[in-house]
Amino acid sequence: MVAQQTLGAEHMKTFQKRGFPVDQTRRYLEPGPIVLVSSHWQGESNIMTMGWHMMLEYDQIGCYIWDENHSFDLIRKSKQCVINLPTIDLIDTIVGIGNSSGAEIDKFVTFGLTQTASDKVSVPMIKECYANFECRLEDGSMIARRGLFIWRVVKAHVARTPQYPTTVHYRGHGIFMVSGRHINLRRKFKPQNL
Ligand SMILES: Cc1cc2nc3c(=O)[nH]c(=O)nc-3n(C[C@H](O)[C@H](O)[C@H](O)COP(=O)(O)O)c2cc1C
Repeated sequence: MVAQQTLGAEHMKTFQKRGFPVDQTRRYLEPGPIVLVSSHWQGESNIMTMGWHMMLEYDQIGCYIWDENHSFDLIRKSKQCVINLPTIDLIDTIVGIGNSSGAEIDKFVTFGLTQTASDKVSVPMIKECYANFECRLEDGSMIARRGLFIWRVVKAHVARTPQYPTTVHYRGHGIFMVSGRHINLRRKFKPQNL
């Protein structure tokens, strides 16, 4: 029997590893770009910075919201939010919003952001963000136990240009990664995986 050849193995590098604290896993696997989540309930609007989110299939999003955040109650009660996608030029705003509380300040005013009306939810979108995803709560069964909100995107607004926005991705401890080069490997994909 012919031994199975491992394609390209001779070109692949390996790594010397060390033990690593499991509670720092986020430094390498932090999902997606940092987003700004806007909320509204009974006349009050707020914004929080969020890194702990993930896509569930194509139009649903799971996210973790700490119940000490002022946004938690606004979002839990309204069952709505807008997930706004900021770009690198908003980095100071991203950090400022994530280090202040809507219980003490109006973040739209403090950070000079413009509210625009959503189409399908009663939550303002942030005009200065590259994209805005209007969300309705799809599954709230894990909010109390896990702080996990599962959203369905009911309307999306995306800037025409640039095609690939320069987003920021959080590694913890004040360090952000900035999105960069893109490579197109479409020809290698099965159609159902595109
Ligand atoms: C980069 C970054 C990412 C964050 N990600 C999350 C997150 O995923 N979930 C969360 O509950 N809080 C997260 N926070 C913390 C909240 O943004 C922060 O507590 C914020 O002040 C909450 O605002 P609020 O009290 O007005 O709701 C993050 C903060 C920063 C700076």
